[in-house]
Amino acid sequence: MLRQILRVIRLLGLRRAARMKKHHEQGLKTVRGYAACSSWWALLDCGFLDELEQKGQVLQSEFARDHSCEPEVLAAVVEYLDGIGFLHQQGDRVSLAPEGKVLMAEPRGMVELLWAYEPCFGNLGDLLAGRKKYGRDLTRNITYVGIGSGRLCEQLPYPVMRRMVIEHRRRMVLDLGCGDMAFLRGLCGMDEQIRGHGIDCSQEMVDFCLKQLSRDDCGGRLTAQTGDMFDLPELPSEVQGVDCVTACDTFHEYIQQPEQLVNLLKGLKERFAGTMFVVGEFCLQDQAWLKKHPTASLEHHLFHQLSNQQIGTAQQWREIFAQAEMQIVEEQVYDLIGHGYFTLR
Ligand SMILES: C[S@@+](CC[C@H](N)C(=O)[O-])C[C@H]1O[C@@H](n2cnc3c(N)ncnc32)[C@H](O)[C@@H]1O
Repeated sequence: MLRQILRVIRLLGLRRAARMKKHHEQGLKTVRGYAACSSWWALLDCGFLDELEQKGQVLQSEFARDHSCEPEVLAAVVEYLDGIGFLHQQGDRVSLAPEGKVLMAEPRGMVELLWAYEPCFGNLGDLLAGRKKYGRDLTRNITYVGIGSGRLCEQLPYPVMRRMVIEHRRRMVLDLGCGDMAFLRGLCGMDEQIRGHGIDCSQEMVDFCLKQLSRDDCGGRLTAQTGDMFDLPELPSEVQGVDCVTACDTFHEYIQQPEQLVNLLKGLKERFAGTMFVVGEFCLQDQAWLKKHPTASLEHHLFHQLSNQQIGTAQQWREIFAQAEMQIVEEQVYDLIGHGYFTLR
């Protein structure tokens, strides 16, 4: 090896050889990010990583057989992830390496949310050239929007919003754009007097929720239905006396038409008289601050913009609430993560 290195140095010169090596290492971070993320997504989606986490170790040949995976593709991906230190592979036996364990912890929601918007990245060239349009030719993986967002929100947004609901002793909670229902499920788990009903306009998302509810519906206190919040369907008979309407990261999808949101809020106030609102929303961060602190908000902004979604400022939300003649009872805005929580009447 040393002889080969000396031969390269003799050929290229020490400075040039050292510079080339450094630049390759720098560039590799980007290339590897893509290859590693794609590989991780595939193993997450087919359930391999969950099985590794639950069982501690998995025989890859058995997994491929039981889950109808192509054994050669699984072997190639596992070998790569072992090489970059995310997995440990010993023959057929695979386990999570410490770095893989971390990826399955707090960052997991971030990985899943990026996977939800993968169609935007996979089609970026076509979007850029105008050959494809988001919405017309491609869309996000909605179930992973719910799963990723639900998992990420468990870290701060849901604890804040659940406290807001519980402190005001609300009992019948209607969640708009409920995603995977993680918010309501946790809420029902905290107080057995609470009943939660989720509405989501995506049939695929609601089918996912109904499958989960068939396994555990918190003793019948958790239900879901497909519906557009702008044209709310009749609620099931057991969902009576809604005293709290919640929405986490649902309204921003319509911030380009603020009057639509104002009318929605006014209509909800009229339909559910006396109800309280608990809203969690993205609040645009200062660009100069973000440049100094390049957090995951940058990726978040990118895939939102690619899917025709805009992020409003905290002030824009206050104005929408004021126009809907709502009073802010409590407000918590966290500029660090670009998220805000509002209790409204
Ligand atoms: C970013 S996700 C947030 C999901 C969930 N609230 C959470 O906290 O993770 C937005 C959700 O709102 C749903 N949604 C968007 N527009 C809607 C509408 N008009 N009516 C009902 N649901 C809607 C989407 O299908 C999606 O599941």
